[in-house]
Amino acid sequence: MPALFEELVRALGGLDLFVFAAGIMPEIGPAEYDTPVDLNMLAINFGGCVAWTNPVAVLFRSQRRGTIVGISSVAGERGRKGNPMYGSTKAAMNHYLESLRNRLGDFGVHVCTIKPGFVATAMTAGKDVFWLITAEEAARQILAAARGGANERFVPRRWALVMFVIRHIPSFVFRKLNF
Ligand SMILES: NC(=O)c1ccc[n+]([C@@H]2O[C@H](COP(=O)([O-])OP(=O)(O)OC[C@H]3O[C@@H](n4cnc5c(N)ncnc54)[C@H](OP(=O)(O)O)[C@@H]3O)[C@@H](O)[C@H]2O)c1
Repeated sequence: MPALFEELVRALGGLDLFVFAAGIMPEIGPAEYDTPVDLNMLAINFGGCVAWTNPVAVLFRSQRRGTIVGISSVAGERGRKGNPMYGSTKAAMNHYLESLRNRLGDFGVHVCTIKPGFVATAMTAGKDVFWLITAEEAARQILAAARGGANERFVPRRWALVMFVIRHIPSFVFRKLNF
């Protein structure tokens, strides 16, 4: 990754904005506990984030400017029944990006964590979801949050209220919810 990253920065003539968006969310059955499937998700969603963001952090720290954007998810807010590893990779991203923000803030580098709700992409195709926004609209809101200096931003913003409520549902109630 570091060699490829150096090549990309050379080809671009420099870098001041980096967005990590790669991620997968395979369907997980209610009785499925499959380690290779889970570890593959961990490697792509979180391992990929770390592998790319570390060399970006080194570059941005040395040039004393730059913005790192990580696309996390509303799924990282609670441990839902539905897909334990997907949510865990996003929760891990939230923690990691917050740490980077705190490490790099004194060096003029900004780190922005994005928590989208449902966006119309291959990931949601054919799924019965609500409040779906287009990828273009999501990108517009993500860039606006990054340029505005947000530390964390739900996209669209109304998810912040939903997640505030969801975070405060007691465990004994939350475990009865099937999503
Ligand atoms: N769609 C939603 O509702 C939603 C909601 C919350 C968060 N998110 C997050 O948003 C991000 C983008 O997802 P999306 O909705 O755009 O889904 P998507 O259309 O399925 O795109 C997935 C992206 O991940 C990349 N990717 C997958 N496997 C990879 C691998 N092994 N190595 C490198 N790149 C890989 C893909 O690259 P290629 O195109 O080269 O395959 C593609 O750019 C993900 O992190 C997802 O978790 C999405």
